[in-house]
Amino acid sequence: MRQPLVAGNWKMNGTRASVEALLGGVVSGAAAIGHCGIAVCPPFPYLQMAGEALLGSRVALGAQDVSIQEPGAFTGEVAASMLTDFGCTYVIVGHSERRQYHGEDDELVARKYARAVEHGLVPILCVGETLEQRERGEMERVVAAHVDGVINLSGVEAFSKGVIAYEPVWAIGTGVTATPEQAQEVHAFIRERIAARNAEVAAGLRILYGGSMKPGNAAELMAQPDIDGGLIGGASLVADDFLGICQAADQAA
Ligand code: 13P
Repeated sequence: MRQPLVAGNWKMNGTRASVEALLGGVVSGAAAIGHCGIAVCPPFPYLQMAGEALLGSRVALGAQDVSIQEPGAFTGEVAASMLTDFGCTYVIVGHSERRQYHGEDDELVARKYARAVEHGLVPILCVGETLEQRERGEMERVVAAHVDGVINLSGVEAFSKGVIAYEPVWAIGTGVTATPEQAQEVHAFIRERIAARNAEVAAGLRILYGGSMKPGNAAELMAQPDIDGGLIGGASLVADDFLGICQAADQAA
């Protein structure tokens, strides 16, 4: 049985004061959540604060990006070893905002995934199509290319060390959520694609849904057989909403 995971992607939000308050709320509420894995991914400058606040709690720490480079002369980059040094367990790679605004392609994202695994981090690989791609009937081609990037570089076994998040770009921050059936269709497609190469890896892989997930729609999404949790943007900035989603994941498990 796959353990569900709910991870909060805080994106580029927060101040010292708001981060402190949010961490306090998440840590105290998380104590009452049973089975579901819980993680928060703050911006880099808040990782230390978050690591200290989460110590001894059941909430894991994650980062939103990682460099493909080892430490050295790479201005502005953050190495995987630095993330583990600050207590990170997870790192998001290939988020659509990085693909869109920073020109990240499947090859670069796959290298980030591999670097994370090499350092014992659990990468959360984001995949998903834009609205135009969906309307042109290219959803499967796009999602397959995102998944295949990792398979081509590292082999399908690399998915025993990470997590995939299906995030349709048209559902991110728009308030438009994929229907449970739409999401399930893509999650099943991803799992089948991996199962064609290694059934055991596919069966154990957690595939999260992301895109306008909220406490009000989480339960029906999590009830789908191939949806194993969520990667949460906006709702992860409000402790009660985030915890409500964790509760839904817990009940669906
Ligand atoms: P929203 O939950 O704000 O739609 O964002 C989803 C997301 O991009 C998580 O990585």
